[in-house]
Amino acid sequence: MKGVILAGGLGTRLMPLTHMLNKHLLPVWDKPMIHYPVDNLIKSGIKEILIISNDPDAFVRAFRKSKYKADIRFGWQKGESGIAHALLSAREFVGDDTCCVMLGDNIYQYRVSVAKRSFEEFMQYGSCGQGGLIVTKQANLAEDLTRFGCAFSDYTGLRRIVEKPDIKVIKEAVGSGSSASIVTGTYFYTPDVFDVCKNLKPSARREYEITDVNTHYLEKGCLQEYATEGWWQDAGTFESLYQATTVVRNEGANIAELE
Ligand code: DAU
Repeated sequence: MKGVILAGGLGTRLMPLTHMLNKHLLPVWDKPMIHYPVDNLIKSGIKEILIISNDPDAFVRAFRKSKYKADIRFGWQKGESGIAHALLSAREFVGDDTCCVMLGDNIYQYRVSVAKRSFEEFMQYGSCGQGGLIVTKQANLAEDLTRFGCAFSDYTGLRRIVEKPDIKVIKEAVGSGSSASIVTGTYFYTPDVFDVCKNLKPSARREYEITDVNTHYLEKGCLQEYATEGWWQDAGTFESLYQATTVVRNEGANIAELE
């Protein structure tokens, strides 16, 4: 399995910090943010990693003195047309392998090794052949779900994924018996994912959405969910960057999950 970390975009929500520095190079406690997903993938057994950004040279510098025992490469996304668009830049690197895609601003208490195993078993023993797995997290407040991809489930399992749903949509769904959780920024896919990305249409906000990729697999009955029990933090706003620094300082990140 290959690892792909997406670290492009404009970092608009962290301006003016991101006028001169890519968001993923900002500090989270004692390391640049990008080191957390890299460390997570390596500790989860993924040793070939591509970091995609709009400034690969800056990332090469950020890793020049690092001591990771892994093959870390650097790729380029032209523009900022969305997560699924960034992923397309990894096509050649991933080839016929499976991949774990992680957003460069997502930090987890636990490494993703159990989710990885769950995806591998799903692909090996299930009837899908091609598919994906999303890592979800229970939300504390319904309002939290409006900032993220939201997974709605009922007693039959995962039913629908909506990108940044309106609070009304969430309350209606929950009122009619569905549960809702946040789709965090870790996704596992079979190599056909690049054809799926290639065939997407841009969303209303003119981005190629990872939620549309996940919906493609969900509609085929080939999307699995893994709910992480530990804390999860996206560090893309001032408030969440502050919280990420605090929780990493107090508890550490990427620790082994108890099974
Ligand atoms: O953090 C989890 C959320 O991340 C998910 O719940 C959402 O479904 C997903 O769409 C995403 O939402 P955000 O609004 O947080 O996405 P953002 O634009 O902040 O981008 C997240 C990461 O993806 C960021 O670290 C950089 C990378 N990215 C983003 C864009 C738009 C790229 O590499 N290229 C891009 O063009």
